[in-house]
Amino acid sequence: MSVKIFNTPEVQDFLKTVAGFDQAGGNDRGKQIIHRILSDLYRTIDDFDINADEYWATVSMLNALGQASQFGLLSPGLGFDHYVDMRMDAADLEAQRTGGTPRTIEGPLYVAGAPESQGFARMDDDPDTAGDTMWLHGQVRDTAGNPIAGAKVEIWHCNSLGRYSFFDQSQTPYNLRRTIIADKDGRYSALSVIPSGYGVPEGAPTDQILKMLGRHGERPAHIHYFVSAPGQQHLTTQINLAGDKYTYDDFAFATREELVVEGQRLAQHAEAKKHGVDGPVTEVVFDIELSPTDADELQERHKRARALESESAESQLAATATV
Ligand SMILES: [Fe+2]
Repeated sequence: MSVKIFNTPEVQDFLKTVAGFDQAGGNDRGKQIIHRILSDLYRTIDDFDINADEYWATVSMLNALGQASQFGLLSPGLGFDHYVDMRMDAADLEAQRTGGTPRTIEGPLYVAGAPESQGFARMDDDPDTAGDTMWLHGQVRDTAGNPIAGAKVEIWHCNSLGRYSFFDQSQTPYNLRRTIIADKDGRYSALSVIPSGYGVPEGAPTDQILKMLGRHGERPAHIHYFVSAPGQQHLTTQINLAGDKYTYDDFAFATREELVVEGQRLAQHAEAKKHGVDGPVTEVVFDIELSPTDADELQERHKRARALESESAESQLAATATV
């Protein structure tokens, strides 16, 4: 039998007590936010007549997500990462910061401290014969079309098995992760391997939640970027390779039309040949446009917990072992 108690004075007063409204200490904004979230959840319990069994099953699921360090994986799956992007896009528009390559989600698998090189990097430390050789290059420009010499281009992607170095400890540290400083013409290039798409681990808490929603947890093949330069807005983005089954059906909602790039299969590539690759190459071109800004805070990536950025390698590895 369904009961409705949410709107009673007793429950409304109780929510205020729980959120610390009658306490002098604490953080006011935190109290307001928790009060809102709790109110929404209490109302949900009332409206859907959620019973004790269902409530405690949810608590177990949240514990399992935390134990597997999968909140960072479920977050894009539930659209939060994309929603935050949509809000930043709207703020840019309102402030008339238009133009520039679109942002899209970072994902949870960046690792700080990748080797840095000038203009070009060979990224595949580990042999990956199952994947096609990739010649990835482009030019960094401002919104007026001027090349940005010295722009910092950080690139990371997975291997042909869909696995990332650091999180996959069988790979050399920083395999397929590099920081490239663009040359005097704003150009960067990299020799690497075409990444594969990948999915959330089968049977893991994130997978269970997506299956409950009738959804899959697959991502198309993609390549992550951080691009920055003094006086320009920091760009967090990624390119999605065209032709993947999931290019337009990404569980993490990262795909944007302007960021879909088609690789060209070539029997040979003169530039790749200079770096010792004499066979077939898939050329991927991604030019990047940065938007100018005077605001220091917009020139830096937003803060979040990132591997090797703030914590020790050991604790990060332990925390991410099941991603
Ligand atoms: Fe990724």
